[in-house]
Amino acid sequence: MSSVNDIRSAFLNYFARDGHEPVASSPLVPRNDPTLMFTNAGMVQFKDYFTGKSAAPWPRAATSQKCVRAGGKHNDLDNVGYTARHHTFFEMLGNFSFGDYFKDRAIELAWNLVTKEFGLAADRLLVTVYATDDDAFDLWRKIAGLPESRIIRIATSDNFWAMGDTGPCGPCSEIFYDHGEGIPGGPPGSPDAEGDRFIEIWNLVFMQYEQVTPDERVDLPRPSIDTGMGLERIAAVLQGVHDNYDIDLFKALIASVHEHTGRPSSAVNQASPRVIADHLRASSFLIADGVLPSNEGRGYVLRRIMRRAMRHAHLLGAEEPSIYRLVPTLAREMGDAYPELRRAQSLITETLKLEETRFQRTLARGLSLLEAATSTLDKGDTLDGETAFRLYDTYGFPLDLTQDALKNRGIGVDLMGFTDAMERQRAEARASWVGSGDAATETVWLTLRDRTGATEFLGYDTEEAEGVVLALVADGREAEALGTGQSGAVVVNQTPFYGESGGQVGDTGTIVAADGARFRVTDTQKKADGLFVHYGLVEAGTLRTGEAVHLQVDSGRRATIRSNHSATHLLHAALRQVLGPHVTQKGSLVAPDRMRFDFSHPKPMTGEELTAVEDIANALVLQDAPVETRLMDRDVAIEAGAMALFGEKYGDEVRVVSMGLAPDDPKRTYSVELCGGTHVRRTGEIGLIAVLGESAVAAGVRRLEVLTGNAARHYFVEQDRRVRDMAARLKVRPDEAVARLEALVEERRKLERELAEVKKKLALGGEGGGAEPVRRIGSISLMARSVEGVAPKDLRGLVDQGKRQVGSGVVAIVGVNDGKAGLIVGVTDDLTDRINAVDLVRVGAEALGGKGGGGRPDLAQAGGPDGARASASLDAISAALAELAGAA
Ligand code: ALA
Repeated sequence: MSSVNDIRSAFLNYFARDGHEPVASSPLVPRNDPTLMFTNAGMVQFKDYFTGKSAAPWPRAATSQKCVRAGGKHNDLDNVGYTARHHTFFEMLGNFSFGDYFKDRAIELAWNLVTKEFGLAADRLLVTVYATDDDAFDLWRKIAGLPESRIIRIATSDNFWAMGDTGPCGPCSEIFYDHGEGIPGGPPGSPDAEGDRFIEIWNLVFMQYEQVTPDERVDLPRPSIDTGMGLERIAAVLQGVHDNYDIDLFKALIASVHEHTGRPSSAVNQASPRVIADHLRASSFLIADGVLPSNEGRGYVLRRIMRRAMRHAHLLGAEEPSIYRLVPTLAREMGDAYPELRRAQSLITETLKLEETRFQRTLARGLSLLEAATSTLDKGDTLDGETAFRLYDTYGFPLDLTQDALKNRGIGVDLMGFTDAMERQRAEARASWVGSGDAATETVWLTLRDRTGATEFLGYDTEEAEGVVLALVADGREAEALGTGQSGAVVVNQTPFYGESGGQVGDTGTIVAADGARFRVTDTQKKADGLFVHYGLVEAGTLRTGEAVHLQVDSGRRATIRSNHSATHLLHAALRQVLGPHVTQKGSLVAPDRMRFDFSHPKPMTGEELTAVEDIANALVLQDAPVETRLMDRDVAIEAGAMALFGEKYGDEVRVVSMGLAPDDPKRTYSVELCGGTHVRRTGEIGLIAVLGESAVAAGVRRLEVLTGNAARHYFVEQDRRVRDMAARLKVRPDEAVARLEALVEERRKLERELAEVKKKLALGGEGGGAEPVRRIGSISLMARSVEGVAPKDLRGLVDQGKRQVGSGVVAIVGVNDGKAGLIVGVTDDLTDRINAVDLVRVGAEALGGKGGGGRPDLAQAGGPDGARASASLDAISAALAELAGAA
């Protein structure tokens, strides 16, 4: 018996031998198609090669493509578990010719593979062709030797394959396997074709046209081939079973379900192990491709799939979270073919476990509410929409889970009632928002958010993507189009642009439509609970709503933002290590050219502390440790030590970003933070962290100004240049510059001291005296003079010297400095009973244009604004003294 893994390899090897490039499956989230929720066919990743938009790197290729059909146009979710052939996740084997071979070779390759390589009996096979495709009809007759009775012409869209309303398309031909008379059903095209006897195993699409718009179809530059064979179906045929769920891969998964969650106890829940096995695959592969559970878009489809599986585990009697326990079996079965499963294994396990743990809290209560609400209902009845909405809103039951739970009893759900209840709640939310004040100008976003739902953010995984323009806004109002030169805002269904939040600035870049219209995004903001708004200007052409556009983030800018953001986490942890656990983040600005980080700390950091923080952060950069992101329950994350910002609003589920290993304990992750920002993949990408400075922002809050990567390097280069310049001027080597500067500063200090001495001496007429300006006023000696350039503090020394010189008398000195005057008057002790220095200084001060003055009878000081009146001041003192002397 060939295992699934053998069949997959056999297929790829067969085509590789025929010159086909084996190409890896593309991710489940399509990057090149905004209309697709999930990749649902092998050709999706090659779309542009068929249309000629880009050149194929190889003429032929073969793949085993991961596909999900849940949510969006192709939705098989409701049938899974209840039929033999429906899956939410499946693998599509395909061979592709990009303008190389066409129908004849495609038919020949396919026929040889199924009959020779896989050894299927030719008489078990029959094919369909598009009604008017005589070529294909003849080729099947000629190449396969099939009798005309087993080449069936079909006129419906079943045999004209199109990827969507637009895109490459063409007539197709399907190969069917006849499971034999024992199984009811008729051949394709017959009235009972829906039966299970004749099963389509392979679809060969003869790509010939491109549907450009719904009404316009053009020829492809070169006819091409796209084929798709469901691996699970062909495995069932080759393993001689009729049911996809009986193939080896599913048997292994279902055995694991039995082991970990239980066995079906009644015929009613026979479907449960199948649902769980299928949903396990879909969930795990989606998580591995970057989808995480959320309440919007792809994340909500994932959540629905996970929660359905959980209800079925509950039906089987599982009381504990158990689906995450199946992950090792899946990794064992499929990890060789899809290494991403092993790479993401811990993320898958944790995400499942978290979702199970959270849903467990409400699942049982929700189910008993459902039971009570339906106890009187019978087959054919419907559950009221209000209850279904309550289950959704309060108990986390996706609508389809409720429908699935009632399916076996033949009870439906009142969908209108459900929508009404949902609408009512939205209206209430809107009303409270509008009433909250900041709203008037924001109503447009709110209205939009209601209509379009939240924008799906793809920017954790990619910097470019396709999206559809859902709305345009100009001057606060919705617009159908934005013309050249017009500025406004663009809302799309999904975007790689980060909307400003958590200190990280919004992305910039371009949005380009198929006709070349180009919108330059200068900022991206988040509005009204998850609506990403791209602000900017139309640079060329006209942008219209409903158009598919290519969104490209300015990736150099994003790279530096990423480095700066990751650096805040490393610095935060390093600050806590160096300063203590009282350090918490108080805010940050993560911009492309710089970053600043505010944190609580009561006093300035010392130079040593700063150096230590910078050293540690850079050591973490050099570790080049991987940066890991996971989704966690908020309380669990915080309890486990993840750092959260005080006062920040977090949902119940949070993204947790971890990076680096503690230098003192390599088992401990160094930085763990709740964070929705974008980060480097490895710390080494940051390159370098330079802390430029530390300052105060508010009481108890300090701020680091930081550069990273090239900006940090440029900073250091510039600093180095300055040091070299300085050294050149000092005429020393750069490493001697500081010592030379210190010597110069010291020398200058000495010179200043010496200069002051000299000035003082000069002021007194030089060493040992000189012409002494001592006058006799009556019986009293007066030494009165004005000096320039002597510091006020030195005047007093001059007075003391003067007193010594006169022996008995009065000394008055005006010191003029920068046009201002300082006055000092001294009276020798023998005269203080007759003459008061304070009186004299007041008289002198008045003449200087000043007021007051004070001191003791033997020494008083004052100042005045007008240094030019120094001699007038001294004259006034002399006159006052003459009066005193006369009186004496
Ligand atoms: N693209 C074709 C399909 O999905 C092969 O059936």
